[in-house]
Amino acid sequence: MRVFVAAAVCLVSSAAHAQFPFDVPFVPTPPVVVEEILRLANVVPDDFVMDLGSGDGRILIAAARKFGARGIGVDLDPDRIEESLYSAQLQGVSDRVEFQQADLFKFDFSRATVVTMYLLPSVNMKLRPRLLRELKPGTRIVSHDFDMEDWQPDQKSTVRKNVFLWIVPARVEGRWRTTVVLPAGERSYDIEIRQKFQEIDGLARYGDRKVAGLWNPRLRGDRVSFVIVDDSGSLDTNLYFEGRVSRDAMEGTIQRGIGRDQQQLSWRATRVTGAN
Ligand SMILES: C[S@@+](CC[C@H](N)C(=O)[O-])C[C@H]1O[C@@H](n2cnc3c(N)ncnc32)[C@H](O)[C@@H]1O
Repeated sequence: MRVFVAAAVCLVSSAAHAQFPFDVPFVPTPPVVVEEILRLANVVPDDFVMDLGSGDGRILIAAARKFGARGIGVDLDPDRIEESLYSAQLQGVSDRVEFQQADLFKFDFSRATVVTMYLLPSVNMKLRPRLLRELKPGTRIVSHDFDMEDWQPDQKSTVRKNVFLWIVPARVEGRWRTTVVLPAGERSYDIEIRQKFQEIDGLARYGDRKVAGLWNPRLRGDRVSFVIVDDSGSLDTNLYFEGRVSRDAMEGTIQRGIGRDQQQLSWRATRVTGAN
């Protein structure tokens, strides 16, 4: 089914290329798939939704009508823009949505908190570096039908069509330093993190050449969490790190131990080296 739809889109694409300089032809997303896109993106009224190649504006108009979100649709085709503006007016959301005739490859994405797209595999891949670099960590990207190769989606849903969700990950790769005040005294950790999109792993060096694993490492948007085993007391105890990543710092709380023995500590790590 997917192959058939992709082939159909590509066929229409080459026909369309004969007439228009568009990278993708207009093929509207069916209403039930629009619903699933917006559900998966978890749209809320504070969101700014950007539909790249917005067609007749249906995704953005539904986001405004059903969730009270704001946003902008961008499409190269002036007829589609006119259609979208008319439809937004009919559906009473003209004050929440904008439509702009522009090339999505030259469009500024930075305002978006949610990006939706129904493009083509090659277009997704061409956009991918900019999406990762220019969108704020935590921005949700939902693509109808086409994935982004080795950038695995955070979630995939199939309701008649495939829909993929990615959460833009913060950049955490590199070396970080933090000093934690444990019951047995202060301890400094040099944390090394490797990253491939939202997948991370790493280790922590401390003391005189000691190394601890970074267990259960997770990154979702700008939220990072991992576990380091603290061996400074008479019993080994887990340190559950949770925090938020900004450009050059990670900070948050550590739960040391569990239940009645649990203590809450705070931590702040600063970037020593790494991609920025
Ligand atoms: C498959 S349609 C999707 C329409 C709408 N997003 C939806 O899901 O119903 C792709 C749209 O992208 C537009 N498009 C193609 N190349 C574009 C470009 N370089 N910049 C902006 N829009 C483009 C086409 O005009 C078309 O309306």
